[in-house]
Amino acid sequence: MTKVAGSATARAHSNIAFVKYWGNRDQGLRLPANASISMNLADLHTTTAVEWNSGLDADTLTINGAIANETARMRVENHLDTLRARFETDRFARVDSRNNFPMGTGIASSASAFAALTTAACAALNTTVSERELSILSRLGSGSAARSIPPGFVEWHAGDSHETSYAETFAPADHWKLVDLIAIVSREHKRIGSSAGHETASSSIFQPARVASAAERIASVKTAIVGRDFESFAETVEADSNLMHAVMMTSKPPLFYWEPLSLAIMEGVRRWRQDDKLMVCYTLDAGPNVHCICADGDADAVAIRLRDLCGEIDILRSGVGRGAHVLPTD
Ligand code: DP6
Repeated sequence: MTKVAGSATARAHSNIAFVKYWGNRDQGLRLPANASISMNLADLHTTTAVEWNSGLDADTLTINGAIANETARMRVENHLDTLRARFETDRFARVDSRNNFPMGTGIASSASAFAALTTAACAALNTTVSERELSILSRLGSGSAARSIPPGFVEWHAGDSHETSYAETFAPADHWKLVDLIAIVSREHKRIGSSAGHETASSSIFQPARVASAAERIASVKTAIVGRDFESFAETVEADSNLMHAVMMTSKPPLFYWEPLSLAIMEGVRRWRQDDKLMVCYTLDAGPNVHCICADGDADAVAIRLRDLCGEIDILRSGVGRGAHVLPTD
């Protein structure tokens, strides 16, 4: 992208939730039903260039060098409408977004995508926006994007209004060397994405129980991370993932994301932790891929076991990442 006044490039990392966001109490504002906790993933990121250009008569979007489909362009345009209203500009934008992780692996890109888009779009307007407001604005594009703004280990406060629902760091990236090994069980595009899933969450009779007990799990995971207590961390992270999937499976219509291989890996992970004393636990988002969260020193041993169990599957690997940031111009 040519460098003109009104342009900037930003990078944001994907994140993996340890206490999940599932269901909104305000769908339009993406005010979540419960607070959530995640860590940023250093090795999975989106880099987005935004150029506000008075010569354009509509927003344009390219993803990994190709013109994006209309659904993706509209979601970005809606988000840019929000930023145009907030910062009082009527210019359209040229947006070029690139992921460093393979597309179509079922790894969510909306978190890093909307965090990078918001950070670049604000920087290109030459406005100083606080980390908190960047998180609030990113949330409107994709809920989990709020958590990709601050660095390291992050809590997204559910809040009860637009202004009070934002994420902030509670431990820096170098606090605990955790590694996410993502076993790619299926590359198929998910039939029901998270945005549609959030809308049906409240149709499960288990959702109120999951939401009511979330504060307890938030406190327990935070204490475990701060104290680097893997046993306690593992127990709560797995329980939280299981609870979210119980809600998904009992929603109307029911959502089943697990595949037979997902279950085999979950079973393996529990065994490796109990019998082999490896520091590893699992968590799954709205898809069949299994995030195996390991202590740094045990990640290689877990990767070997994953290959023994699954044969030739792709495994993505990432440590704990920094927050969204503007890249220097050259
Ligand atoms: C299962 O943030 O992708 O990954 O706000 O509609 O973009 P939208 O949903 P999204 O939902 C993430 C759901 C999850 C759990 C989590 O990351 O907390």
